[in-house]
Amino acid sequence: MTSAFEKVQKDPNRVIIFDTTLRDGEQSPGCSMNLEEKLKMAQLLDELGVDVIEAGFPIASPGDYESVHEIAKMVKNATVCGLSRAKQADIEAAGTAIAPAASKRIHTFISTSPLHMKHKLKMGPNSVIEAVHESVTLARNYTDDVEWSAEDASRTEDDFLCQCVETAINAGATVINIPDTVGYAIPDEYGRRIAMLFERVPNIDKAIISTHCHNDLGLAVANSIAGVQNGARQVECTINGIGERAGNAALEEIVMAIRTRNDMLPYTNGIDTTKITKTSKTLSTITGFGVQPNKAIVGANAFAHASGIHQDGMLKNTQTYEIMTPESVGLAESKLVMAKHSGRAAFKSKLTEMGYELGENAFQDAFTRFKKLADKKKEIFEDDLIALIEDEVIRENEHMRFLSLQIVAGTEGPQTADLCVTVEGEKKCVKVEGNGPVDAIFKAIREIEPHPDAKLQLYQVHAVTGGTDAQAEVTVRLSENGKFVNGQGADADTLVASARAYIHALNKLIRKRNMQNAQHMKEAATP
Ligand code: KIV
Ligand code: ZN
Repeated sequence: MTSAFEKVQKDPNRVIIFDTTLRDGEQSPGCSMNLEEKLKMAQLLDELGVDVIEAGFPIASPGDYESVHEIAKMVKNATVCGLSRAKQADIEAAGTAIAPAASKRIHTFISTSPLHMKHKLKMGPNSVIEAVHESVTLARNYTDDVEWSAEDASRTEDDFLCQCVETAINAGATVINIPDTVGYAIPDEYGRRIAMLFERVPNIDKAIISTHCHNDLGLAVANSIAGVQNGARQVECTINGIGERAGNAALEEIVMAIRTRNDMLPYTNGIDTTKITKTSKTLSTITGFGVQPNKAIVGANAFAHASGIHQDGMLKNTQTYEIMTPESVGLAESKLVMAKHSGRAAFKSKLTEMGYELGENAFQDAFTRFKKLADKKKEIFEDDLIALIEDEVIRENEHMRFLSLQIVAGTEGPQTADLCVTVEGEKKCVKVEGNGPVDAIFKAIREIEPHPDAKLQLYQVHAVTGGTDAQAEVTVRLSENGKFVNGQGADADTLVASARAYIHALNKLIRKRNMQNAQHMKEAATP
């Protein structure tokens, strides 16, 4: 496998795309994913063509360790990276977690700004320099590919930053990352800082310089590009720009800026841009973090032309108002695929064509749901099938499974939900009143499986395709004692989709609780 360093040596304009969706993105509130979801995202990122997947922070929890380890086993093309502070236990955890990867990297960091050193680390500059040397040296025992980051670099004094960078490279760092941790920099300033390092650090040619920009002032992408224009050859970014606070630089924006303005930004990368939309949508579905409609590249309106003048121009020549094509980001019109009379064989062959292999039970359930949907909805699009199948796949082997729902709603109360589910295979039904149908459904689920400490954090509905007969895709986020989970549900009936989404979130919460209890018991049993 070609290393990042070799890629840049071969092509000096090659920009390494380092994706941190599963680390910086995942650690932001409400974006947490379970192992299955992280594996699914890692698979998509690998197919998208990112060079490095930062899979997590292994020391943070046994769950983080496991997911980095499993991703390291699964990923075929990208380098798998684990994050660590400048601490021995962190570096050891990162080193063993990434061990199975075909190409592996440890990313170790320490703060270098006066503010962070004094108040957060309570360390003086000399001790920080020592820690830089020791951490990189230790990390090199696990892999030749070691990245070192100067946390809060954009508020670090130039002289000290140069000293730290030189020390890290001397200790064996192959990538030097200059984070704008608090999203404080402006493009010209950030670009000059990168140029300053190239001018002043004597061994700078032995490492790739990297950007990692947060979006607190909405400048993350602009700062990253300024970094590249001044010699950086790695960009750290996330899908949909998720990440701490206002997020990180959005991968899709950087890649499409380079592609669309290659006259001004003559750089290359390994991304298959036609996979951007699918990756973005999957992340939104998993996390429940939808993107704003006017978000560049992946927002619902990014390629929509509403005004009469624009539509007229588009009909005459698409280039009048379109600087990139929807196809270039994989945004094809959702194809009309099936109708009411399609049979089992046609349904099965369509699923195979779309890359789904379902077990017999899941296939039977999916086919029954497809027939019910086709009764309500004249035209079934590819996106409808994706929503339905994804919904079926996440439901296999669940603790609680949805069976049926009858609702009484409207102005004349009381609104009631008559809900039947199975719990570990046993059928249970309740009839519950609520303040509106959604409240009644959620109360019914709580009556069957009480979970008094859990709080509803988010309830979100969106339509899979257009039209009033569109399927609804619902996201429910629950929190319990600091744990967050997202559940999804899809159905032509918004209330059924809501019940499915809540049950999905609850199943995940129970699984997380059980895993944590098992971990506590294991710890208690260890002498
Ligand atoms: O923003 C930041 O400084 C980080 C580091 C850990 C690289 O995420
Ligand atoms: Zn960050």
